[in-house]
Amino acid sequence: MNPSDEYRPGLEGVVATETAISFLDVDHEEIVIRGYDLIALARHLDYLSVAHLLIEGCLPSPGENASFTKGVLGHQTWEGPIENVLRNLAPDGHLMDFLRTGLSCLATYDPDLDDHSTDATLRQALRLLGQIPMIVANSYHIKHQQPSILPDPELGYSANFLYMITGRKPTIQESQAFDQLLTVYSEHEMPNSTFAAIVIASTLTDLYGALVGATASLKGPLHGGANEAVMRMVLDMETIDQVEPWLLAKLAAKERIMGFGHRVYMHQPDPRAVLMKELFQQLVHTPEQENLFEMFTRGEMVMQREKGLYPNLDYYAAPVYYLLGIPIELYTPIFFAARSAGLIAHIREQYAHNRLFRPRVRYTGARHLQLD
Ligand code: CMC
Repeated sequence: MNPSDEYRPGLEGVVATETAISFLDVDHEEIVIRGYDLIALARHLDYLSVAHLLIEGCLPSPGENASFTKGVLGHQTWEGPIENVLRNLAPDGHLMDFLRTGLSCLATYDPDLDDHSTDATLRQALRLLGQIPMIVANSYHIKHQQPSILPDPELGYSANFLYMITGRKPTIQESQAFDQLLTVYSEHEMPNSTFAAIVIASTLTDLYGALVGATASLKGPLHGGANEAVMRMVLDMETIDQVEPWLLAKLAAKERIMGFGHRVYMHQPDPRAVLMKELFQQLVHTPEQENLFEMFTRGEMVMQREKGLYPNLDYYAAPVYYLLGIPIELYTPIFFAARSAGLIAHIREQYAHNRLFRPRVRYTGARHLQLD
């Protein structure tokens, strides 16, 4: 076979692997997670139950839920010198780079680093689900030379994550909104970061290394970096009246508008964005927040009219983060923290059915050059 015959730039539409974890059923506007609809999971279950579903393959019984949760929460203390390592990073660094350094640091303290058995990777999963929120939340405080905030034993997993970020015990409405946000971000079939993770895992390197590669991928503005770009964009518009001229000027300059479009559902609604818009509306309590809601919906209307593009998850997740009082520079690391459940599930699946990724190229360079 001539491999170049099959070339599809960006692997658009290419089936790259088999998975029993998730599938974007675009025609039916459903994100299938191990047979369940992601939006229904987000509405009715909590993040850790969905993480169990992703990683263990089934919804937890009450007993399994208790031991999974205990296993995760048992890892929410600083391990080894990790806090000190983070305190020695450049204060201007991006928090995604703090996170990948934290993950690399965790790897060096894992005695089973090269063990790919289901027992070892489950233990690693529990450790990572506990440690990643701590690293994410506290990287912000560390970067700003503030003391760390450790979990409050009276709070649950998602409430604690939010508490470690803001230093304030969240209301029930805030905890539930944050939990739903984590759940809708938890898994999404084969985005660039998940692909990066399984490609890396296919060399049979360690799980942490595959996650570190995924952090680099997810940081990019065309992927996870879009959520913080969305919030900066809308704040830059300042008023409702500025939304339309701002967007039209950017479109006339052929610029990308962050938070719109998606490789898989380019011209269909992203079901996650629909849920986030609903949550955003529920969190609106003041006239300024109403104003912000109007700005976002005006932006959606302009992009639909001008380009036929729908908002993606990042568009409506950004104001949810904002109304929860989360600093903008944490939006992308929180996306990664939530997605770690899906990533770990895919890495474990790759180990279980491994075949090394090694594609070919269409060569466009010179041939038969002669040395003088
Ligand atoms: N703003 C303006 N035009 C757009 C946008 C956008 N955000 N997205 C797509 N288009 C246009 C693009 O210019 C092109 O138009 P034309 O055919 O007239 O040249 C057409 O839509 C097709 O675009 P494409 O570049 O072939 O599409 P793609 O599949 O390569 O891009 C994307 C997908 C997500 C990179 C792109 O939509 C984009 O850059 N969006 C903004 C960044 C963003 O919001 N990313 C988050 C994605 S969802 C969360 C996640 O998975 O991380």
